[in-house]
Amino acid sequence: MRGGNLFGVVGVCSMAMGTLAIAVLLNAAGPALAASPAEIARGKYIFGATGGCGCHTEPKGAANAGGRKYGGPFGTVYSTNITPDTKTGIGAWTDEQIITAIRLGRRPNGERILPVHPFTSFNGIAEEDLRALVSFLRSVPPVNRPNTPKKITVPMFESVFLPAWLMAFAATETPPPAAPVAGVARGEYLVRAVGHCGECHTPRSALTMAVDNSRFLAGNSKKTGPEGQATANITPDKTTGLGDWTEEQIVTYLGTGNKPDGDVADGLMGETIQGTLAGYKDLTKADLQAIARYIRSIPAVKNKIE
Ligand code: HEC
Repeated sequence: MRGGNLFGVVGVCSMAMGTLAIAVLLNAAGPALAASPAEIARGKYIFGATGGCGCHTEPKGAANAGGRKYGGPFGTVYSTNITPDTKTGIGAWTDEQIITAIRLGRRPNGERILPVHPFTSFNGIAEEDLRALVSFLRSVPPVNRPNTPKKITVPMFESVFLPAWLMAFAATETPPPAAPVAGVARGEYLVRAVGHCGECHTPRSALTMAVDNSRFLAGNSKKTGPEGQATANITPDKTTGLGDWTEEQIVTYLGTGNKPDGDVADGLMGETIQGTLAGYKDLTKADLQAIARYIRSIPAVKNKIE
């Protein structure tokens, strides 16, 4: 598409523009057609801010090649190959199709992506950030690994149950016209949309497994936590939440995994901090401070996580 516009320009260009057009054509012959290094770097930063999409990488497996197993009451799904491989990954998808999958949970063939992929949170990612993210996804080495078919045990799960569940229970973030650049608004954007902290830290109903945003970030026991892991109450509640943590301690934890008590982040939190090709640890100090400031500003919820 972008190529098409440039060719349009070539038709009417002056001599000086002609030189530029040749440079563009030479560039177009190479694989770097999609984006500038700066755009790819910006995309890598967003990738890190999501926690590094570690769900799409098997432990010790090739980055983004998928295959990690996720069990649920509905059956078993395997994360998919999001490398730019044209046969088994997303290499043949358009930017629009990749963005639709990320934020709306739909594959180009119309198939639904289960909300194990946090698309209701990712829907809140600003367009410019999604575009940069797509540029980055296209820049990593393609890996040929066919997706593992899911095994759904609930009848009519995708045609009836899932759409009804999404309509009745799924709280969907709304994308801002532009990504906030600083302050608490920036922190809120990084927490609610890009970093999707609530997917793991907001209590889920044991009955429906829907997140309860009236107790935003108040933690989950092993029963409702992601992959059977308990997640901390990270609201500012004095006794059951992060009440005692200073802003600086939250920044250090997200940037290094080190807790104020000398312990280290474990399990999925360790994974999102480390990330795969980038993680929370790669966020700038200013962004980590914005996150810390935001989570210290949300309502305190008393909820003891065993
Ligand atoms: C994929 C799931 C997941 C996501 C996403 C996630 N966390 Fe966590 N988080 C966990 C788990 C699991 C733990 C418990 C780790 C442990 O036991 O060491 C945890 C622990 C923490 C703790 C330590 C609390 C304590 O009392 O020890 C903080 C702070 C925290 N998370 C903040 C965040 C923030 C902020 C975000 C978003 C930027 C976030 N988490 C996103 C799963 C997640």
